[in-house]
Amino acid sequence: MSTAFTPADITHYLPPDFLAKSLRRDVLAGLQSTPKTLPPKWFYDERGSGLFEQITELPEYYPTRAEREALELHAAEIAAAGPAETLMELGSGSSRKTPLLLDALAEAGPLRRYVAVDVSDSALISAREGLAGLYPELDLQAVAADFEHQLHLLPHEGRRMVAFLGGTIGNFEPDARIAFLRELRSFLGPGEGTFLVGTDLVKSPSVLVPAYDDAQGVTADFNRNVLRVLNAELGADFDVDAFEHVAVWNERKEWIEMRLRATRAMHVRLPAVGLEIDFAPGEDLRTEISAKFRPEGFGEELGEAGFAVVGQWTDAAGRFALTLAEPR
Ligand code: SAH
Ligand code: TRP
Repeated sequence: MSTAFTPADITHYLPPDFLAKSLRRDVLAGLQSTPKTLPPKWFYDERGSGLFEQITELPEYYPTRAEREALELHAAEIAAAGPAETLMELGSGSSRKTPLLLDALAEAGPLRRYVAVDVSDSALISAREGLAGLYPELDLQAVAADFEHQLHLLPHEGRRMVAFLGGTIGNFEPDARIAFLRELRSFLGPGEGTFLVGTDLVKSPSVLVPAYDDAQGVTADFNRNVLRVLNAELGADFDVDAFEHVAVWNERKEWIEMRLRATRAMHVRLPAVGLEIDFAPGEDLRTEISAKFRPEGFGEELGEAGFAVVGQWTDAAGRFALTLAEPR
């Protein structure tokens, strides 16, 4: 009986050279482009996953609380519209909101298993701690995989609900986002289940910007952590404290851009990838976008990827949306 998973219980789909190979490829491409960029999945080593947990509790970071409230209000209706034997959660993190869905799905029909999917082992371990003992009757599985490239490897059993919470879909660039939705659609055929996705909604920059630039500086620390990952994994010599955290609302693209700004000229060596790069004073490295959505527009995008919207729900203040879609 599995009431919890231990690190040994994590199924690893990430190839053994995942860090070495993909990180190298991403770093080579990103740091040699103009402006310099880095993809977001490299934030989440053990320290990064811990910092993200702290972000979710910051007074300025409303999305976690708004999504939780939307689930509290609407999970029963969502589960009734998408009953499933398997709940599979992509980028599950610490799975703190998941019990709201598990309880509703168990109420709506015969729920048999929960599959948590994340690139971060430490997130999967933290999820185990939170769920331990709560669902003795459920088959709990933890899978270390990259949801951008490995959806086809994930378990296919039973009618599924694929949940993608936290607004993480907003961290894809628009092209990668539509590619992801199409890939997911080929993983989920008509009648095989539903897709539940959480999206943060467009709102005033006076609310959005502080959510990504908090007074205590936790988000700044989280953002800079990606440089620590490069130092640790690639032997790079970034002077982490010489980069300033910047969060900007891009009005035209309707996304928050996270950047790391060089506070002085720097020459950085990355011996493991055979790269040396220069930063001009004030030069920005773009580390992450967090796109904000409009419910109708997002519904159309799902339509382009082969999904039909079953329903959309928000928290009481309309800050954050949950969209349930099914393959058509
Ligand atoms: N769903 C949780 C966590 C959101 S943070 C919540 O709502 O609070 C985003 C999570 O996605 C992190 O745990 C990170 O490790 C994971 N993640 C980011 N990129 C990923 C990828 N390409 N494949 C799998 N997991 C990824
Ligand atoms: N999915 C989260 C979001 O877009 C991730 C996140 C929150 C994040 N704060 C961050 C990513 C700060 C980078 C930096 O809200």
